Amino acid sequence: RKVALVTGGYTGEAEVSFKSSAFVHSQLDTERYEVYPITISVDSWFHVNDAGIKSLVNKEDFSLVINGHLLTFDIAFIILHGSPGEDGRLQGYFDMIGLPYTSCSALTSALTMNKGYTKAILADIPELFVAKSVLLFETDRETAAQQVQEQLKLPYFVKPNAGGSSIGMTKVKESSELTLALEKAFNAENTGQQVLIEEFVTGREFSQGIFRNSAGELVVLPATEVKTTREFFDFEAKYIPGLTEEITPADLSEEQQARAARILQAIYVRLNCRGMVRVDFFLQQETDHFYFIEINTIPGQTPQSFIPQQVRAFGMKEGDFYAELIEAALK
Ligand code: DAL
Ligand code: MG
Repeated sequence: RKVALVTGGYTGEAEVSFKSSAFVHSQLDTERYEVYPITISVDSWFHVNDAGIKSLVNKEDFSLVINGHLLTFDIAFIILHGSPGEDGRLQGYFDMIGLPYTSCSALTSALTMNKGYTKAILADIPELFVAKSVLLFETDRETAAQQVQEQLKLPYFVKPNAGGSSIGMTKVKESSELTLALEKAFNAENTGQQVLIEEFVTGREFSQGIFRNSAGELVVLPATEVKTTREFFDFEAKYIPGLTEEITPADLSEEQQARAARILQAIYVRLNCRGMVRVDFFLQQETDHFYFIEINTIPGQTPQSFIPQQVRAFGMKEGDFYAELIEAALK
């Protein structure tokens, strides 16, 4: 099989995409798969071979000419966080040219990139809770601080509504910090110019993956608990090793594990997901309720990311897991 490993992207998460795709590449069985990393940047789509020679992708059919030979792909393995790989744009393009891909559909990707809209769609899933929030648009900029203060109780999280990896996000503990936090979120690049402000849920933070295997079954991976020494699980906590303790499998009771699995399956079905997705939750201390934070349709695959940890804890080799995603997408 010829696999286009699609990476890069337009946002601050491009660097994370390169790390994720390098790890996926290192794990895939090269006897079974011929893997060609393809970088998508704002001005070009290209592959660089081992000798450092660059070939541009023909956008009509996503083919390449390498050393005078035409190369076409069997599948696109999308490991590109943020736009245009996680927000449905590339998915729509691959649909149009008829190339199978490993991720959620264009619609699901576009929807789930919008945290506020996704919360609205998931709000009535049994046993799942959503924190009180306000979704603000560019036109709300002038009255933003006032709207938030009228509707929400401190502390709150202020985040770009379509961002990733906590870029542009602030935990606001005092109202004096709000204006700056809103500016930062509104100004975050390529994230849609909407800002989501959510009331803070006190409790433990978890992240958990689910995927459909090549036999068509939904498989829930073990959960990871995140314990960071920082104010919240921000960009540094996510990618600088040692700032966060990550416990996989998380210490949850059997009842909590079963409940989390039911919730994950319900989310996956409700959003009509494909491939692997990862859901982030808070478990509220007083109530023992799972609160939805967000869903990631192109979850991080750096060696320290959650999904690889969970796959290992599940007793599977990462390479076999990535092969399952490819085979499931080709069915
Ligand atoms: N957005 C990052 C890559 C993640 O969810 O893992
Ligand atoms: Mg994310």
